[in-house]
Amino acid sequence: MDCTVNIDDGELDSRLLIEMKQVDRHLRISREERLLAQNVATRALVRGFAHEVKNPLGGLRGAAQLLEAELPDESLKEYTQIIIGEADRLQSLVDGMLGPNSLPNVQKLNIHEVIERVRSLVLAEVPDGVRIIRNYDVSIPEFMADKDQLIQSILNIVRNAIQATQGQGTVELKTRIERQLTIGNTRYRHVMRLDITDDGVGIPEEMQQRIFYPMVTSRAEGTGVGLSIAQSLVNRHGGLIECSTQSGKTCFTILLPIETEKKQDE
Ligand SMILES: Nc1ncnc2c1ncn2[C@@H]1O[C@H](COP(=O)(O)OP(=O)(O)OP(=O)(O)O)[C@@H](O)[C@H]1O
Ligand SMILES: [Mg+2]
Repeated sequence: MDCTVNIDDGELDSRLLIEMKQVDRHLRISREERLLAQNVATRALVRGFAHEVKNPLGGLRGAAQLLEAELPDESLKEYTQIIIGEADRLQSLVDGMLGPNSLPNVQKLNIHEVIERVRSLVLAEVPDGVRIIRNYDVSIPEFMADKDQLIQSILNIVRNAIQATQGQGTVELKTRIERQLTIGNTRYRHVMRLDITDDGVGIPEEMQQRIFYPMVTSRAEGTGVGLSIAQSLVNRHGGLIECSTQSGKTCFTILLPIETEKKQDE
């Protein structure tokens, strides 16, 4: 058991807060470190690959357009249109793999405003049979982060959760504060925890280890970049996304450090 004691000495009364945590947290820490290191290595590989694909793709599309202008027969344009269309599809896939290229715009934000934004975005597209439940800890303080990047990460995960319900089910958005949590090798006094839980189909066992890799998908129309982008954006904030799944209950947890003041692990 790991124990933390906080003394809150108010003017009228004093309060003592004792928190106990299981030691298996240390096991979790090393797993997180592995996940983070793995993700950094994969991102570097994927970005390198995506860059290499991007340039010839531009050339290919341009050449197809020139060719189209020279074609004597209208009916042949069908073929150049296929080249252009497929080049565009690859281009957006590669852009997704490269992730957002804008510089982070960090500002003080309220996490519930961000989540509510995501909720209003998905409410328009959510099927009638799917309920979105909110379970917020409104005492979570504001913290510094890039609003658009957080919206993007949460949106990617909430969309997956809605898709997993296959039109019938519940998605819960739950926020909590975690105290004294270590992410990577940094110990934070307060961390925001967002659990996105659905009662959908669950993640097939053989995919569970790979879902954060780009281009891993089980959906016919999926590109498989949603989770990879979400993880990389959250990592940029010093945070982490974890996942647990069993039949009828899949939970993605986003952990984001709240305090800028970090205490290195001794
Ligand atoms: N909540 C969930 N329940 C079950 N499976 C999930 C869940 N979230 C993700 N997955 C699995 O992980 C895969 C990867 O998800 P990811 O968001 O990266 O890609 P995608 O949804 O397939 O495509 P897109 O790029 O359009 O998001 C999904 O195809 C799905 O198999
Ligand atoms: Mg997705």
